[in-house]
Amino acid sequence: MGIAAQKMCKLNHDEIITVLNQAYAEEWLAYYQYWIGSQIIFGPMRVTIQEEFEKHAKEELEHAKKIAERIIQLGGTPLLAPAEWMQQARCGYEIPNNALSIELLKQNLDSERCAIARYQQICEMCWGKDYETFEISRQILHDELDHEQDWEDFIKDLEEGAIFFQKFHH
Ligand SMILES: [Fe+2]
Ligand SMILES: [Fe+2]
Ligand SMILES: [Fe+2]
Repeated sequence: MGIAAQKMCKLNHDEIITVLNQAYAEEWLAYYQYWIGSQIIFGPMRVTIQEEFEKHAKEELEHAKKIAERIIQLGGTPLLAPAEWMQQARCGYEIPNNALSIELLKQNLDSERCAIARYQQICEMCWGKDYETFEISRQILHDELDHEQDWEDFIKDLEEGAIFFQKFHH
């Protein structure tokens, strides 16, 4: 627990730690959503999307680590039991019942949009009051915006591809 770290944070500590733990839970669920998606995916662009899922999974795990470190600096404890992830997360875990590539992409796009709102919220909470948490959230926000763009682009390519296919194979 960092003494100076706690002094420099002008937010209610319990409040920011609670929100950080929610984000922490969401990162683990996002990690798993990508990881399991990369195992079960089938359909158009399988290999390319699989690789991108694996890459995103790693990035979500790095986000979880950054948040865990910050929670500890602020004198809190990152959630210790996986069962708490589902309870604490506000960005819900979407069960990939249909592993067709475009369906997985749509689920992950939803999750990324939720993550963007989450880090926007933390940035707003922390601005002027806790620059370190602000900076961590801003860096993560940058990655989540990138992730959203990836899936929008992939979905567009798949949909355009399907239209093209229909036109020329009638
Ligand atoms: Fe993330
Ligand atoms: Fe993400
Ligand atoms: Fe990406």
